[in-house]
Amino acid sequence: MTIFDRNCRACPRLAGFLDEVNERYPDYYCRPVPPFGAPDARFLIVGLAPGMHGANRSGRPFTGDHAGILLYQMLHKYGFGSRDRSESVDDGLELIDCRITNAVKCLPPDNKPVGAEINTCNTFLANELKLLPEDSVVVALGGIAHRAIVKAMGLRQADYKFGHAALHDLGSFRVLDSYHCSRYNTNTRRLTEEMFDAIFAQVRNLLD
Ligand code: URA
Repeated sequence: MTIFDRNCRACPRLAGFLDEVNERYPDYYCRPVPPFGAPDARFLIVGLAPGMHGANRSGRPFTGDHAGILLYQMLHKYGFGSRDRSESVDDGLELIDCRITNAVKCLPPDNKPVGAEINTCNTFLANELKLLPEDSVVVALGGIAHRAIVKAMGLRQADYKFGHAALHDLGSFRVLDSYHCSRYNTNTRRLTEEMFDAIFAQVRNLLD
């Protein structure tokens, strides 16, 4: 049961793009980005895919770009992180009962994986979700992550619609949806700090 493969080249477009980006930025990580945090954590956050100058550069989800700023602040505030920022893989940050993964493990062009890529990578997510302990909570950051989770569990999309702050019971765990903490969403205030804070407060309540 594989949850991650650092050498995966199953999606030709993504593998080719990573090669191209690696030529442009030889110091960047430029590989499938592994999940961060312990496999037995009760809180799993599912993002979309590595960002060009964040996870794709550092090798850790949401590390080094704008999307991670608010996320790691919230994790620290609610006791899921040992520090309030994530700078690099060797910055000493530890997640506490929390894990972060992406629906798609490789950097996609324009931050947009295509359906076939989401589906190919879904096997890893499905295997990862099987590791969740009883009564875990999964936060889906954005509609793509939400639908990837529903698909990974073999459920019907029509029965589980994405909505900010919607809570879904998937049987073995619950999924709480949030708008993605991307620069675009926070700049346009589609996702405010207060809205994101309320998501993490709810996770804390659900787990305690
Ligand atoms: N970085 C990630 O690792 N995932 C996202 O969804 C966005 C930025």
